Amino acid sequence: MSGRFLFPADFVWGAATSAYQIEGSPLADGAGPSIWQRFAHTPGMMANGDHGDVACDHYRRYRDDVKLMQALGLTSYRFSINWSRVLPEGTGRINPAGLDFYSRLVDTLLEHGIAPNATLFHWDLPAALDDRGGWLNRDSAHWFAEYAEIMFKALDDRVPMWSTLNEPWVVTDGGYLHGTVAPGHRNTYEAPIAAHNLMRASGAAIQAYRAVGRQQIGVVFNIEPKYPASDRNEDVAAAARAHAYMNQQFADPALLGSYPPQLRECFGDAWPAFPASDFGLTRQKVDFVGVNYYTRAVVRHDPVQHPLRASPVRQPNRTYTETGWEVYEQGLVDTLTWFKDRYGDLPLYVTENGAAFYDPPVVEGDLLEDPLRVDYFRRHLKAVHAAMRAGVNVKGYYAWSLLDNLEWSLGFAKRFGLYHVDFATQKRTPKASARFYADVIASDGACLAP
Ligand code: BGC
Repeated sequence: MSGRFLFPADFVWGAATSAYQIEGSPLADGAGPSIWQRFAHTPGMMANGDHGDVACDHYRRYRDDVKLMQALGLTSYRFSINWSRVLPEGTGRINPAGLDFYSRLVDTLLEHGIAPNATLFHWDLPAALDDRGGWLNRDSAHWFAEYAEIMFKALDDRVPMWSTLNEPWVVTDGGYLHGTVAPGHRNTYEAPIAAHNLMRASGAAIQAYRAVGRQQIGVVFNIEPKYPASDRNEDVAAAARAHAYMNQQFADPALLGSYPPQLRECFGDAWPAFPASDFGLTRQKVDFVGVNYYTRAVVRHDPVQHPLRASPVRQPNRTYTETGWEVYEQGLVDTLTWFKDRYGDLPLYVTENGAAFYDPPVVEGDLLEDPLRVDYFRRHLKAVHAAMRAGVNVKGYYAWSLLDNLEWSLGFAKRFGLYHVDFATQKRTPKASARFYADVIASDGACLAP
């Protein structure tokens, strides 16, 4: 790479989505319910009463959506598989129609020259497994490996990249500690157990892959760097706790086979004594790691905040997105560099990066102008390049998201798409950010140069 601001010719250019956020038809053709089906249909859990029954109707419109990907020039598409489409009860009986949907999606991608990148778990646990304790049950590692092996055997001949989990932190922080996402528990004692079993499950799936898979497998973490609000010791310690909780709690057991000591400080007697032998399972060789990056947090000591005793501090004179996240591209450089320094020189992919902003109304026949999102992508793509110049082995980038979609419990109002979706008509309209990203891809990043 030179100063011409070009990415390597084999750099992977992608966009990402997830099953419950876009597919719709969650119970079609023999699928079982997931915990998101239940959560979204529990009154009061979702903004505006939104749910994923239709979402972007991608389950029926996937062929048209693959054409949108092709129009961008994507070389890869990152999607997730809804476990309960394939195994309606989570284990045991296979639903052939569910498997067939993902097989058809993969074939359609390949026909359009787009490499499939499949995530096995993007938060939609089969409800039948939640009834058996979900991620609190140690058997969840075996359930997940059983499902993973079925998917590997069905699709590994055509899927070059697999991930076990997407963002286990959100599952445990939102799903087991604060109750903001499915399954909606609020329990300090459960959260570390769920986190640990997720990482055991990831390890068990990677073991299964080594027996039957021939391509590449990794795991995806959301990394949010934490900066102390001052150089006072108590703020520095608060930032270290927040960093251990959000970032190292998942990457450390997967890549180092241990937990950082700050977790015991946070959780106190809610921190279990995990069997030492578990870490042989959590720590498996991965072919790559996916990093999802959206923002940073500046953190101060705050004794009343449970369990971290730390609070984020809003920064003056900075741009914040519609989800309240500061636009801070240097955090992506810092994250990628930190990852390399702590975990070694693994191939890294930025598997999600993007922003929700208000979009203007669609005018028939026009591109929808979204200058703040274009600016966000420009800044972060330059940050990826800066990290690469500094020696980090970044192999690809996935914009979040291909389409406006169901932003989990925040509903459809928070729009992250390169394509606008009119949820009443399902009409897709390209935003200026789609044209911008297509130009970046077509020029290998040359159009990012100042
Ligand atoms: C998740 C996506 C989500 C996005 C924006 C990530 O936490 O993987 O599912 O829509 O960020 O919040």
